[in-house]
Amino acid sequence: MTSQNSPYPVVNAFNEWDPLEEIIVGVADGAMIPPWDIEMEATVHRPELWQFYRRHGGTPWPPEMVVKAERDLEEFAHILEAEGVTVRRPTPYDFSKPYSTPDFSIASSCYALMPRDVLLAIGDEIIEAPMGWRSRCHELHAYKDLCKEYFRRGARWVSGPRPQLSEKSYNAGYVAPREGEPMRTVLTEWEPLLDAADVIKCGRDLFVAQSSCCNRFGIEWLQRHVGDRFRVHEVEVYDTHPMHIDATFYPLAPGKLLINPERVRKVPQMFIKAGWDILVCPQPEMPASHPLYNCSPWIMMNVLMLDEKRVIVSKGEDRFIRALQGWGFEPIPCAFWDFTTIGGGLHCASVDIRRRGGKQSYF
Ligand code: NVA
Repeated sequence: MTSQNSPYPVVNAFNEWDPLEEIIVGVADGAMIPPWDIEMEATVHRPELWQFYRRHGGTPWPPEMVVKAERDLEEFAHILEAEGVTVRRPTPYDFSKPYSTPDFSIASSCYALMPRDVLLAIGDEIIEAPMGWRSRCHELHAYKDLCKEYFRRGARWVSGPRPQLSEKSYNAGYVAPREGEPMRTVLTEWEPLLDAADVIKCGRDLFVAQSSCCNRFGIEWLQRHVGDRFRVHEVEVYDTHPMHIDATFYPLAPGKLLINPERVRKVPQMFIKAGWDILVCPQPEMPASHPLYNCSPWIMMNVLMLDEKRVIVSKGEDRFIRALQGWGFEPIPCAFWDFTTIGGGLHCASVDIRRRGGKQSYF
């Protein structure tokens, strides 16, 4: 079954750049400060923030921060709608409730700020990711109404193997590597774990990086699940606190791969062989004084493509905006630093559901 007013299936997502028709954008309302747990230390870059999470995790973000984040989301949604994109929002959900399973207890859920982490839309299918944080295992409830609707309208819909997230999932006594030390992550290989944002799409090829919320078992599960429909490639990255691929390695358009110069040390040979331009991201410009609780300033790489040329990018990143223009893109700046304070970037805050195009190989 196709979508209303579109010849394409309701879920149709093969890459990051075909013309965008429909997208889910997160909401800040009800956002909780992620409760402290072993994986926070493994994914939050600045050690001075760990104490903040230990003390405040599991309580709501202050209302004034939520209001400012919501303002950025509204500007983002407004830009998308003005460009003719259908914007969908999650269902309000109470993230404040503590919960327990036979294997763990946690003070609260997190938020519906970042649908990209939760739902993996590939081709005509939505995959609920088997996420690596205990505090995020019910977050997808905010998207269930949308998943049910997309399913009724013809999409395929599946949930990855529900993680148990017992102590066996995490390396006890884990200490994050210091800059320069060999890369490691907090996850064991005891069960498949994967956040949707650890994957980035490029037609027939999907690129995935191991992180402290994505293990090899999770990558193997994804490969077997998609079978011969897609080829899954693991990308080698270097990050002392790895979480999600989309501020590290990002195919923006056919033949154009954006890379983080600190995290990508070896571009996969297939891009070189196929003659892709390797676009080395310039240094971020966010002032060091800007509060940033959840990610690094490299979050500016986390843009959203409207099509092969037009790219929504965080306002204030002028050097990056000029670089994008030089590479042949048409940047559309959107104020987003206040969202970034408690969340991530424009790509994190959204998940594209339908783009106009089909499966191709770009290699
Ligand atoms: N963990 C990454 C952001 C990923 C979207 C970072 O902090 O740079």
